[in-house]
Amino acid sequence: MTDPLKILVIASEVEGLVKTGGLADVARALPACLQAMGHDVKVSMPAYERIREHWRTWPAQTISLPLSLSESHRIQARTGDNDGLPIIALEHAPSFERAGVYDDGYHAFDDNPRRFAILSKGALQWCQENNWQPDIVHLNDWQSALGAYYLAEHFKDEPFFANTRSLLTLHNGAYQGHADAQWLHPLGINERYFHENIFEDYGRINLLKGGIYFADGLNAVSPGYAEELMTDLGGHGLGRFFRARQDDLIGILNGCDYGQWSPEIDAHITAHFQTIDEPGKAHCKAALQQEFGLAERAVPLLVSISRLTDQKGFHLLIPALEELLKTADFQVVLLGSGDAELAARLHSLEQRYPLKVRFTEGYDMALSHRLEAGGDAFLMPSLFEPCGLNQIYSQRYGTLPLVRDVGGLKNTVTALNTTASNVDEATGFSFLEPNATTLQNAIENLIGVYFKQPDIWQRMQRNAMEQRFEWRESALHYIEFYRRLLATPRSNPGARPH
Ligand code: ADP
Ligand code: GLC
Repeated sequence: MTDPLKILVIASEVEGLVKTGGLADVARALPACLQAMGHDVKVSMPAYERIREHWRTWPAQTISLPLSLSESHRIQARTGDNDGLPIIALEHAPSFERAGVYDDGYHAFDDNPRRFAILSKGALQWCQENNWQPDIVHLNDWQSALGAYYLAEHFKDEPFFANTRSLLTLHNGAYQGHADAQWLHPLGINERYFHENIFEDYGRINLLKGGIYFADGLNAVSPGYAEELMTDLGGHGLGRFFRARQDDLIGILNGCDYGQWSPEIDAHITAHFQTIDEPGKAHCKAALQQEFGLAERAVPLLVSISRLTDQKGFHLLIPALEELLKTADFQVVLLGSGDAELAARLHSLEQRYPLKVRFTEGYDMALSHRLEAGGDAFLMPSLFEPCGLNQIYSQRYGTLPLVRDVGGLKNTVTALNTTASNVDEATGFSFLEPNATTLQNAIENLIGVYFKQPDIWQRMQRNAMEQRFEWRESALHYIEFYRRLLATPRSNPGARPH
């Protein structure tokens, strides 16, 4: 390896500590992989109350953190190792000593702009105070997007950061971090940048938008999503601003942590298996049917694990299932938490079809493994999907994904075509038109293949189980991009046209 890099990752959640979605999986697996490749990596995150048991014994260092002329905070930086990963947990009781991560269960916290400004700038300040000079500051989503601005503006005259470059990874562009314009001063955002091409968005501050402008490099978590972001339809209202940065925006597909997600070794499942020829897969299915009080019959068992949000396509899935449940012979087990109305609709579906439907409302990691292992097919009809991890996991378990042909889903699933001429490559099923009837037809087709073409189904299971989405591959792309950014003289974003 050529000279190792110093990489500061800033993230609002890290798997094993705090997780609400796939961002956490990435913020654990990618740094761990970069570290294993010999790079010097540190991950900075908030010292949330709920993970106090992890950081409470770590040494604390007081850092005084000026966010702006009017606002300065004293924070404690707690440094320690979590499962071999060096963590900088930033402690600031008024911001992080509360139960929620982003919200109180109903509403986003009012002071989120400050909370995540403290994360973003605090991490940079820690580097300076500890003389740990990062080559790359790797930011993730809106929560750390301000880091790009602070680096480019607050620290622009600091020789310490002269050779540091920022990369902002877009895991989900739908969440942008909006704030009232009165936050400009407290956050230390120069009014000159409250401009429609930079931070301003219909009179409010948009933190992600500012990050897109100020970051040295940008990447989406799949090539498909990178392309979509640059369109008006797929750019979550920011397509024009992504297009303005198209030379600096690439797609890098997420990987899979096969140490966690492999049917040979998975600690959460009933029986292990290497191939579908072994009885393990069938045992896992039978165990799931038993667990949920469903008849142990040879009908397709469809599963889903998801945040309950519009993004995940439930308003297509629920009516499609409603129709199919009237006549088709299948079972479906869903696990999810989030939107209360979607949860109520899923509970009602379960009540009306007690022989076929089970819905568990909640977040249950062990159950998610049992579903991946015991299901026949995994439903993921997302409206948009930056990468998506569950369809990657499910393939490894021979559980065929049915996905909408968008974003990372189209980069990770090879759909069986209508003539089945690609049966040697196919790993799942897909549909495109975002309406319930198209999805219903796709599920009907899947059920048809299961019952009538078991040889095709099994061939697809074998194909799926052979797929590998190795983090090492993705990490190599990140390294290449980091080095490209380091080889490019830092542009002065403040001087970019706006
Ligand atoms: P997103 O980040 O948009 O939610 P991903 O597919 O990238 O989608 O990642 C979701 C991650 O969160 C996966 O690891 C998945 O298993 C997990 N997950 C989501 N909802 C639940 C749940 N209700 N219970 C357990 N795990 C869940
Ligand atoms: C986001 C996206 C998901 C992606 C994950 C990790 O939460 O919704 O598609 O897999 O981030 O990058």
